[in-house]
Amino acid sequence: KKILVIHGPNLNLLGEREPGVYGTDTFESINDEIVSHALSYGMHCEVFQSNHEGEIIDELHLARKKFDGVVLNAGAYTHYSYAIRDAIAAIKIPVVEVHLSNIHARDAFREKSVIAPVCVGQISGFGKYSYLMAVDALNYRWKASEE
Ligand code: DQA
Repeated sequence: KKILVIHGPNLNLLGEREPGVYGTDTFESINDEIVSHALSYGMHCEVFQSNHEGEIIDELHLARKKFDGVVLNAGAYTHYSYAIRDAIAAIKIPVVEVHLSNIHARDAFREKSVIAPVCVGQISGFGKYSYLMAVDALNYRWKASEE
């Protein structure tokens, strides 16, 4: 299976951005861990990052033909982008919503995810492990559907 990890705005600064909230691991090192974790399940994994809403939407459209599933941290777009929500709803491949921080334990505006209803599930609050758990979730889904 092929999976795509999409990181939204400001996540390129992981490691230096609010380390008390998001940790000190760099963006590059987290991506390396995700890719090798996926490989341990025999999955091919690619990574995309953009600070622009339309680019994230374009990438979701492209992913529907090239990948079997998506791990998405939409950053702050999570809380208000109906356009990203509609893009997820428009494609048939499963999208797992991911957050490093627990969005339910922070500012009130972060508690609402407008993309959650169109994702297969949400993993929030486990730092970089949220991404690894999202890979586990996709693997589990596919294994379960084979049984
Ligand atoms: C985030 C949580 C969002 O509220 C925030 O805007 C981010 C990162 C997370 O991974 O915890 O950019 O998605």
